[in-house]
Amino acid sequence: MPSLNNTAPLTEPVDRDPWRDRLERQIDRWTTAPALQRWASTSVLTRWLVRRRAERLFGVMAGFVHSQVLLACVRLQLLETVHASPRTREQLAQLTGIAETGLDRLLDSAVSIGLLERRTGGRLGLGPLGAPVVTHQGIRDMVEHNATLYQDLSDPLSLLRKPGDTRMNRLWPYSRTPDHARAQEALPQVDPTPDDHGVFAHYSDLMANSQRFVIDELLASYPFADHQHVLDVGGGLGGWVTALGQAHPHLALSLFDLPPVARLAAQAGARNGLGDRLKVHGGSFIDDELPSGADLVTLLRVAHDHDDDTVRRLLRAIHRCLPLGGSLLLAEPMAGSQGDPTPTAPYYHFYLMAMGPGRLRTPEALTGLMQEAGFTHIEPVPNPMPLHARLLVGRKTRPSVNSPATPHSVTFS
Ligand SMILES: C[S@@+](CC[C@H](N)C(=O)[O-])C[C@H]1O[C@@H](n2cnc3c(N)ncnc32)[C@H](O)[C@@H]1O
Repeated sequence: MPSLNNTAPLTEPVDRDPWRDRLERQIDRWTTAPALQRWASTSVLTRWLVRRRAERLFGVMAGFVHSQVLLACVRLQLLETVHASPRTREQLAQLTGIAETGLDRLLDSAVSIGLLERRTGGRLGLGPLGAPVVTHQGIRDMVEHNATLYQDLSDPLSLLRKPGDTRMNRLWPYSRTPDHARAQEALPQVDPTPDDHGVFAHYSDLMANSQRFVIDELLASYPFADHQHVLDVGGGLGGWVTALGQAHPHLALSLFDLPPVARLAAQAGARNGLGDRLKVHGGSFIDDELPSGADLVTLLRVAHDHDDDTVRRLLRAIHRCLPLGGSLLLAEPMAGSQGDPTPTAPYYHFYLMAMGPGRLRTPEALTGLMQEAGFTHIEPVPNPMPLHARLLVGRKTRPSVNSPATPHSVTFS
């Protein structure tokens, strides 16, 4: 059972194996010996491996430059421009107002990382990695949003030593204060000021634009037809309930979020033609009871914003509002099971650290928190693209007399 406090490591300590220790120490010595490195980089047997590792490391080292090339392309709307019709460098220089000496370097860099590609007649067209950026406004918004994250990350040691004092943190009103007493003060008990409205609208728009990826994963993976009424907790502007309602017309829909966001969600719901089908509730899951009546609660990208104590309160509130036989479907990015490396983990670890008290959790840690809240039969729901979110479902069942919250064994791939 994973340790559940907020500073819990992502892997459980395992017993040391002295033979394995010795072998690994020896391999460390070999891989860092200059003479062996020279031999390995020329030998037919190993040079492909050395080259592949060198390229990978170079990619890691150059990652910031790559993301700045992407940011420049997004800000100049270069990808949309060449998508409309491939252009020469002279045309692009004229359109962007950037002199060819500078632009040449940007264009060559964008070709090298696949955002653009060279076409006939010296023109540039959309590259394989440029296509999704043009298709999804959510990616372009996140690229712009990452510019703020990367300012916070410019000194990673200061962020690691003093997380929370960041530009990212100021964007998210609900994550400004880690402890509950102060969180209560920060949460709008009264009407928010016009400034607050701006902040809530800004982060809600950003979330709404990036939510499409998670929506597609959910619709492709879970049998919503088996339910009657879905409550989306922390539902933002209601993009998910709208898509769900369109895909499953029999479902009744409810959404719960902080009052200023709930007001925006109610307006969006009316615009999207959901009318009386959608009930919107404003409140804080830290203190308020959640509305009852739904047989499925969805929780999309909410738990990872909060510390373990808040997640415990939230999951208990969800458990209380569900009828026996009801389910919770949780979807968010997760760390690798048992500490397995996951390519997306570094991004989400640092994003959530810059944002505030939340954290990326393993499926096992989330399962533990769900079990503590009383959920049983917790299992992963396989989804096609676990890059944006992985899914867990749990049920509210009658507590057994002998062991009220008997942990079920869960297998994660
Ligand atoms: C990261 S956003 C996710 C929004 C949406 N579920 C999505 O996937 O796009 C987290 C949401 O939780 C809401 N939230 C945060 N703290 C809350 C609280 N104490 N009570 C209710 N909602 C809260 C925020 O307002 C926001 O809409």
